[in-house]
Amino acid sequence: MGVFLHMKNPTKEPQNMTPTHHKLPCRDREVVGNELNTILAHLQHLHLVTKQAHWNIRGDGFIGVHRLLDKIDAELLEQIDESAERVEALGVAADATLEAIQKKSAIKNYPVGVRCIHTHLESLSAAYALVSEAGRKVIETADKHNDPGTADHVTGMTEQLDKWMWLIESNLPQPKDA
Ligand SMILES: [Fe+2]
Repeated sequence: MGVFLHMKNPTKEPQNMTPTHHKLPCRDREVVGNELNTILAHLQHLHLVTKQAHWNIRGDGFIGVHRLLDKIDAELLEQIDESAERVEALGVAADATLEAIQKKSAIKNYPVGVRCIHTHLESLSAAYALVSEAGRKVIETADKHNDPGTADHVTGMTEQLDKWMWLIESNLPQPKDA
């Protein structure tokens, strides 16, 4: 227990978890924390592909989309920090390393060597939608494990993801009004 020897009743934690006075059973925190860690890896991957698009796009609407993607990325980085700290608050080690992204992220085949602004916007939109959907599943897990804090955190995150998706998709050509 190390520095936690002074604690009166620290919960007995499995080896991969940090001792804490948190009253939610460690098994519940472990399940929820691990799922949130998977979302964290996805958010980190979104950060990478958002910057990739920010740098690579060319074409109509360039400057607006170029700036928009930087604004979204700045908000995304704040979200990443909040999510990593929520994982830590549950007594699980936050893991947003390159290895974690490679192992856990379901975002695949982001276009490389592509300039078309619409291809990037379509790919980004699909990636944001995927992470938002994954987040909604974590809300269900958090509810099942009596963790309203994480459910609330991820609810806010999915709202943000949906907003970013809307901002991205609104730059795509739209069907003509009837
Ligand atoms: Fe830039």
